[in-house]
Amino acid sequence: MGIAIAKLEAWMRDYYHKVDHDIGSSGVRDLSMAELRGVCGFEMSELDSMVLHDSEAFGGPGLRAALADRWTGGDVDPVMVTHGSSEAIYIVMHTLLEPGDEVIVVDPAYQQLYDIAGSRGCRITRWPLRADQGFSVDMDALRKLAANGPRMIVVNFPHNPTGASITRAEQDELIAIAAESGAWLVWDNAFGEMTYGTDPLPLPHDRYDKVISFGTLSKSYGLAGMRVGWCLAPPELLDEMAVLRDYIALYVSPVLEFFAEKAVRNADRIVALQHRHASGNLQLVRDWAARLPDLVRLTPPAGGVTTFVEFPGHPDVVRSCRRLAERHRVLLVPGECFGDDYRSYARLGFGGTTAELTAGLSYLEQVLREDSGTVTVR
Ligand SMILES: Cc1ncc(COP(=O)(O)O)c(C=O)c1O
Repeated sequence: MGIAIAKLEAWMRDYYHKVDHDIGSSGVRDLSMAELRGVCGFEMSELDSMVLHDSEAFGGPGLRAALADRWTGGDVDPVMVTHGSSEAIYIVMHTLLEPGDEVIVVDPAYQQLYDIAGSRGCRITRWPLRADQGFSVDMDALRKLAANGPRMIVVNFPHNPTGASITRAEQDELIAIAAESGAWLVWDNAFGEMTYGTDPLPLPHDRYDKVISFGTLSKSYGLAGMRVGWCLAPPELLDEMAVLRDYIALYVSPVLEFFAEKAVRNADRIVALQHRHASGNLQLVRDWAARLPDLVRLTPPAGGVTTFVEFPGHPDVVRSCRRLAERHRVLLVPGECFGDDYRSYARLGFGGTTAELTAGLSYLEQVLREDSGTVTVR
């Protein structure tokens, strides 16, 4: 196979469905269908009149219009509905990139954001976040990297796994750098609606024409099982993307689109509910880390529901994460899934239920103490 194993997804395949306490995922608390109906105010009987006809390549009219009203001022032309944002990422990379193209990508990053390009023979240039400075961005470094005229600059803020974000001024600068170098700017907005202490950043589309953004119901809405995402891009690019899509899944099921439309039309209420829950959980994580300064280093996230915690001096984070899953049924993601430079880190997700977070943190503390030699394992 010419594509690297997606380490994070492989870890999830091993453990995600075998744990009781998920403190590793990047999504908020999953909603039940009853909760979704309650927040959005609809009845299942509304589905009875649905004829299970094909939907459309760019998305059914109802969902596309709902997304357009939320994201593009009502203009449906730049909107494509996809199976999660994963499908959008895959199609964009395959449509725009040729072997030898240079792609600059924020580092660390969700692997699909660079390894699809890697598998296409592109040159991947990393733009590292400054781990020693709260995972802040170095815009001067980006400007220098972009001087070679890359084909694409790929970013994701708020960022998975660190939860770091950028300011509006930095976003303006990022757009200016992309524009000066003529690169496509790929803005993965998976966590864009979930921020702490600042307003969500606006999408960059109205400041530069070569912008592609991704959105999803998987992260800030608690609807990961819906597998609905979207891509916003110039209509001519979406036309090209549809050519590849004809060989993949053609379109998203109208059944999913029915629920997704309800969710998008009620997005503010769903996100507000999830935000209240995530903010409370974040405080728990902060208090927990503050109690363990010798074992845990936490950079509080600006958005999303993950943080990249460091375990300074820890001998083997992967082994501890395996033991957490296999012995205590707790999911934590080793930093190594984001690259070898991050072996002393783990992604800690705080979007789940407060009960599983509390239990998961307690087991994590126990394992950290055992593995750092302050407690004997029996
Ligand atoms: C930054 C980022 N983008 C995209 C995705 C893909 O999510 P989905 O396909 O569920 O929309 C993920 C999933 O973890 C992610 O972290």
